[in-house]
Amino acid sequence: GGRSSNPLIRLHEDAASFYHQVLLTTKAGERGMQYARERELSRDILDHFQIGYAPENNVLLMYLKGKGYSDDDLAQSGLFIQTEDGRMFDRFRDRLMFPLGNENGQIIGFSGRRLSQDKTQAKYMNSPETSIFNKSKVLFHFAEAKKAARSEKRLVLYEGYMDVIAAYKAGVTAGIASMGTSLTDQQIYLLKRITNNVIINYDGDDPGIHAEERAVELFEKAGGFNLGLVILPEKLDPDEYVKKYGVEKYQEEIKGALSPTDFFLRRLAHKYNLQNDREKLLYLDEAVKKIATISNPIEQDLFLKKVADKQGVSLESLKASLMREVRKNR
Ligand code: UTP
Ligand code: MN
Ligand code: MN
Ligand code: MN
Ligand code: MN
Repeated sequence: GGRSSNPLIRLHEDAASFYHQVLLTTKAGERGMQYARERELSRDILDHFQIGYAPENNVLLMYLKGKGYSDDDLAQSGLFIQTEDGRMFDRFRDRLMFPLGNENGQIIGFSGRRLSQDKTQAKYMNSPETSIFNKSKVLFHFAEAKKAARSEKRLVLYEGYMDVIAAYKAGVTAGIASMGTSLTDQQIYLLKRITNNVIINYDGDDPGIHAEERAVELFEKAGGFNLGLVILPEKLDPDEYVKKYGVEKYQEEIKGALSPTDFFLRRLAHKYNLQNDREKLLYLDEAVKKIATISNPIEQDLFLKKVADKQGVSLESLKASLMREVRKNR
């Protein structure tokens, strides 16, 4: 599309192409390129996501001044840190830059990843809130994923930018990510307008799985979604999983996404020591309570059978205990 009438958006689009050119064509960008190679980001990927590099020096400020942006626009953009006496400095330094777009793909902010292992600096630094950038409404790769969802018929929600990128390389092109912050109702609302089919594939570590549980609750509260839940093994995130096991295995993980009930039962099983009879009874009790909330009787039966088979108890006893649960709730 053409140039935006909003100067702050124009400024961000100029900044993004500047960072991208610095990465691809300059001596200063070689550090960024080296890092991009380590992360296995090809030229095609760098272009598709318009990834760039913010060098050490105050070059963005000089570049945008040269393009004629006013001090006011520069100050409002959030891309500069201002001293008390009004001087400005580039906010992002020595970082690999991920542009963040609005619903229409117009660039409204950035997230920059540090290249070094230096843990005293935040791993990702994000744009501050501005008149065009509201973190709770932003989804990385949303405008592109919206198009891809027309053919893929679903969206896949990730935790991180590098996960969206790894998925994209694996042919899952309708991937999006909230910005590390937990998912918001506004983001769910954006998704709802695209498709009801959402797969959630957060990191396989404990924080990731807990965030996935919270996300399921939010989606269920919103209602009307058909959810699939992926739990990756060995605490891997999707990017690490694809590196370790390859594209095909990853596609199988996506195809094998769990239903919310399966996901719940699997998480529940993880909370108990099922070798112990007393704990097993507690597990079965909670499992039956959950299954009792399912309105479709065929679906209820399906899950009862699954639990009965898996735990080596009779279907009849589970059914009896389900009936008792149902009577209690009336
Ligand atoms: P992770 O810690 O899982 O990072 O945070 P990652 O996506 O795997 O990143 P790599 O692979 O180490 O580069 C998930 C997401 O949380 C947000 C980012 O959006 C990140 O992608 N985050 C994380 C921040 O905003 N700031 C941080 O300091 C860390
Ligand atoms: Mn994580
Ligand atoms: Mn846990
Ligand atoms: Mn991660
Ligand atoms: Mn990662």
